[in-house]
Amino acid sequence: MPRKFNHGLDYDDDDYGDEYDDYDYDYDIDSDAEDNGNLPKPNQETDSSSIWRCSICTYDNDQSMTTCDICGVLRNPLPLSGISNGNDLKTVPFKFDIPSPDDMVTNGLHSSKRGPKASATVRKDNTSAPMSARFSNSSSLMMSKGSNVTGNENNQLKDEEHNLRSSAKSPDEMSGTLSSYHEGGVEHTLPMDEIKPPILARSLDSVSINDRGGTGKAASWGQYKPEKWMLPESEDGLLNQLNLAIVGHVDSGKSTLSGRLLHLLGRISQKEMHKHEKEAKLQGKGSFAYAWALDESPEERERGITMTVAVAYFDTKRYRVVVLDSPGHKDFVPNMISGATQADAALLVIDASIGSFEAGMDGSKGQTKEHAQLIRSFGVDQLIVAVNKMDVVEYSNDRFNLIKRQLGTFLRSSGFRDSSVLWIPLSAMENQNLVTAPSDVRLLSWYKGPYLLDAIDSLHPPTRDVLKPLVMPICDVIKSPTMNQVSACGKLEGGALRSGVKVLVMPSGDVGTVRSLERDSRPCAIARSGDNVAVVLQGIDTSKVIAGGVLCHPNFPISIAKHLELKVLILDGASPILIGSQLEFHIHHAKEAARVEKMVSLLDPKTGKVMKKAPRCLLAKQSAVIEVVLQGPVCAEEFSSCKALGRVSLRALGRTIAVGIVTRVIEKEP
Ligand code: GTP
Ligand code: MG
Repeated sequence: MPRKFNHGLDYDDDDYGDEYDDYDYDYDIDSDAEDNGNLPKPNQETDSSSIWRCSICTYDNDQSMTTCDICGVLRNPLPLSGISNGNDLKTVPFKFDIPSPDDMVTNGLHSSKRGPKASATVRKDNTSAPMSARFSNSSSLMMSKGSNVTGNENNQLKDEEHNLRSSAKSPDEMSGTLSSYHEGGVEHTLPMDEIKPPILARSLDSVSINDRGGTGKAASWGQYKPEKWMLPESEDGLLNQLNLAIVGHVDSGKSTLSGRLLHLLGRISQKEMHKHEKEAKLQGKGSFAYAWALDESPEERERGITMTVAVAYFDTKRYRVVVLDSPGHKDFVPNMISGATQADAALLVIDASIGSFEAGMDGSKGQTKEHAQLIRSFGVDQLIVAVNKMDVVEYSNDRFNLIKRQLGTFLRSSGFRDSSVLWIPLSAMENQNLVTAPSDVRLLSWYKGPYLLDAIDSLHPPTRDVLKPLVMPICDVIKSPTMNQVSACGKLEGGALRSGVKVLVMPSGDVGTVRSLERDSRPCAIARSGDNVAVVLQGIDTSKVIAGGVLCHPNFPISIAKHLELKVLILDGASPILIGSQLEFHIHHAKEAARVEKMVSLLDPKTGKVMKKAPRCLLAKQSAVIEVVLQGPVCAEEFSSCKALGRVSLRALGRTIAVGIVTRVIEKEP
């Protein structure tokens, strides 16, 4: 049976209602126009020739003003990304075979230049204070955590960081190097509707590449020495674990496909399947029988939609696959984020039926693009596109090609390399091309590629942070009051666990002991980075273990903060962001209300260079550095120190408006 989990913190969207009402944007962005690659509407001239009205805030400005006096928006917006300029038709494509942004951060730039000095500075202090002195209990999220760096050392670190920044190649220079790359020395010419994507790709790319060095956490973690048992043993005979997020527009067939796979691979018995079929038929929902294996709650079954992420497991030749079946409905994107943030790779399910694919691609109502962008922003670069419901379109090659062409353009724009995207036409309902080659001649006649299971096996094994201390964001908590026991579920993003090990539970700062570990409801001896497990804890107040929290190594506590600097990319069709904008802030499995405190700089979307300091408004497709203040503290780290705790997405009015990374933890909770 799959394990279900809801979003970490129990938020009701209504909680935001009042704040959004107070913040009433008076503008209308033509999302269709944006989807077609057109520019935002220029500011309109009003009847009076001496004034012009800002299209964003509607303020009537004097003719002499070139930017709006209130919100700073340009009177006649410049092409944001060179879309309208004929010369720009020759666009350098996104360079696909450079190291990924994550690799750049991990291998180059900061970590290698940080050097031993910073590391040595912090090392002795990490173990100096006893736990009781460094942590004090208080209620809920406001647990206090002592600093493990003294004032002097802090200054030293700052100095060092300053030196690094001024002496090393600047992040802007780094991104310049990347953006000037020409693939194979060839410049590709793209049709008009394909111009926008590479620019967006570069923006996403530079968002990751240009983050600055950390404030010492990476250095202190550099002192961590894993014990022998923590390192993976090649001879242990275990398959690699692969966390596979199943994402895509509502009703595309994600749960049906997952259920069918589980059944075909023997994870759901014939008896269970019969039961689902019978019950589904009784409720007049016979076609949902396979989906019911994942959609377990009465409400999900009644509504015929997935609402929370279901976690299930199956094995392939190469992998122990953890299926993270996400909801596709737009109301449950926060749950999708919480599940998909654990993904090593993703299966993007597309409904091939006429009209359904198009609905999923709709910029304002569809979830195909939003899910793809979110997945990419979580660092996932391996994608399988399952073009499902091919039975409905008679297994048409033309339909498949059209979907591949249109979606492929968008995926490229979101930073997915062509070589890392696999396209599989299939039918979950008719069991075509799932775990064996297709049998339907209509598909056989033109499709010669791998079937889905083979495609999953062809994915590259994900890299794991086995040399870093334990970090496990908690996505779900299972309490068993009778046994006074609590299980924290999630994916280890660093380090390893086994029974008897002590863990620090953040943000409470309490220490618990691992009693046992479970994978797929079965005990397992050791969990290492990348494994998705349930950690049964003892010796801890169960109320201190919360979804959205993090398990970490007692000597290497992660930061808790409310004030963060972010580097973000504003997504297509997003509402303008101003100082004071109220947003929903998502980081690993935590969600908090946030306020934009400061607009630090606007970045060139092509190069990542600072174009303007202190912009007053951010629009779609722009990239910027901003500061946010959260309503409550979250566990967060700079992206350069810990990717899993440094990736963020911002949402407003029910849609994702920006993705990005934490570049600075400005104020840590004491
Ligand atoms: P959400 O989780 O709510 O986003 O939906 P989903 O993507 O999980 O879709 P689900 O599996 O619930 O299926 C939605 C509908 O599509 C059901 O009626 C399925 O029977 C139908 N369906 C799924 N796969 C296929 C397929 O290959 N062919 C046909 N014809 N119908 C399918
Ligand atoms: Mg579903």
